[in-house]
Amino acid sequence: MATDRTTLQERLEALKRAEAGSDAMMENDKKEFNLESRMAQAEQALKKEVRSREREEGEVAEAPSGPVGLDIGTSHVIVAQNERRYIKTTKQLNAFFTIPHSKFARNILVKNDVFFFEQDGLYYIVGYSAENFANMFDTDTKRSIKQGLLCSDEKEGITVIQAIILSLIQKPKRLGETLCFGVPGEPIDGLGSVTYHESIIKMFISRMGFTPISINEGMAVVLSELAEHDYTGIGISIGGGMCNVCLSYLSFPVITYSIQIGGDYIDSSAGAVVGIPATKVKFIKEREFSLITKPKDRLTTALNIFYDELIQKLQKSMERILSASNQIPMISKPIPIVLSGGTAMPEGFTEKFQKSLSQVRLPVDISSVHLAEDPLNTTAKGALIMAMTEEIQE
Ligand SMILES: Nc1ncnc2c1ncn2[C@@H]1O[C@H](COP(=O)(O)OP(=O)(O)OP(=O)(O)O)[C@@H](O)[C@H]1O
Ligand SMILES: [Mg+2]
Repeated sequence: MATDRTTLQERLEALKRAEAGSDAMMENDKKEFNLESRMAQAEQALKKEVRSREREEGEVAEAPSGPVGLDIGTSHVIVAQNERRYIKTTKQLNAFFTIPHSKFARNILVKNDVFFFEQDGLYYIVGYSAENFANMFDTDTKRSIKQGLLCSDEKEGITVIQAIILSLIQKPKRLGETLCFGVPGEPIDGLGSVTYHESIIKMFISRMGFTPISINEGMAVVLSELAEHDYTGIGISIGGGMCNVCLSYLSFPVITYSIQIGGDYIDSSAGAVVGIPATKVKFIKEREFSLITKPKDRLTTALNIFYDELIQKLQKSMERILSASNQIPMISKPIPIVLSGGTAMPEGFTEKFQKSLSQVRLPVDISSVHLAEDPLNTTAKGALIMAMTEEIQE
């Protein structure tokens, strides 16, 4: 197990050296896609069951032997790979925690299979291990990504996200393997830069030996869930840091955007009014909360209020952005909406979303609203399908 940690440190350092010596990267920019081969390939993979698991402490990252889908979210980083009979996803918590450098601390970390690296006199504990440490010190973990985007003012964030990705995958067995990663739509409230976020991830992925391509997060939802509708409809991912919306017509992302509100906002807002830490709210929300049952206390009342607010803000943004666009194609039939992401998971969310949709006016008719089959893995699966189909055209 100690090899794994040493390897992580070594791999991070090797990447730093590569960065200093070369700026020949990002040669793989957007490619035209062939609609038909893409559909055929997507359909095969879409029929497979998704088997998901969390990365375990001390586990050695895999070297992929085929195309890879990668979802870099505010809360989780998920890798999807196409196995013979199923799609395999592996998840890591996108969080870190620092402790001061000391021989004693190092021994404890090594002995307990904790995933960490060393930088500027600190040990950076990353992923699920960080959560255990934060609980032990009765405090919160830190994030490398805030509201969906890498923070340009925090240097450590980049190293942390690289370490988290390296905890899930190593360099590919075949140099130049396609890796498709999800990127948020441009936030309409304009905080953070999607271009910066995408470029940093792309550089890192190509230095690992992959051919990186990106897919809009909402479009990944459409690819994963709307095959039966010819990839026409609205894909929405409602995650920890943001909501991503994509209106797709025959697999073309016509309108994409994001709003920077998600599960984290619900946790901190409900926590602030009730007077408990956001991490505790998150814990309760993920295990016991339902939007169907009547609120039983102050916390569930507050959660209901902030869920309502999120749904209203999201639907108002859809009304505003879709109505202002002159790109909406003439679609003869009503189109479906598919919801994904962890924040869409509480019981009753889809019904609530559907009900309040009647309060906004959209320039397209909606045929149905449904929840993705596996809301936490939808983006990674869509990104994998994109990677597979790009591969086929080379
Ligand atoms: N079973 C559940 N019930 C309620 N909420 C959940 C559940 N599981 C996860 N969540 C919430 O979903 C959010 C994380 O969702 P997800 O993993 O889709 O986000 P992400 O992709 O990491 O973030 P983003 O896409 O916003 O950058 C968190 O706020 C988490 O508390
Ligand atoms: Mg997400």
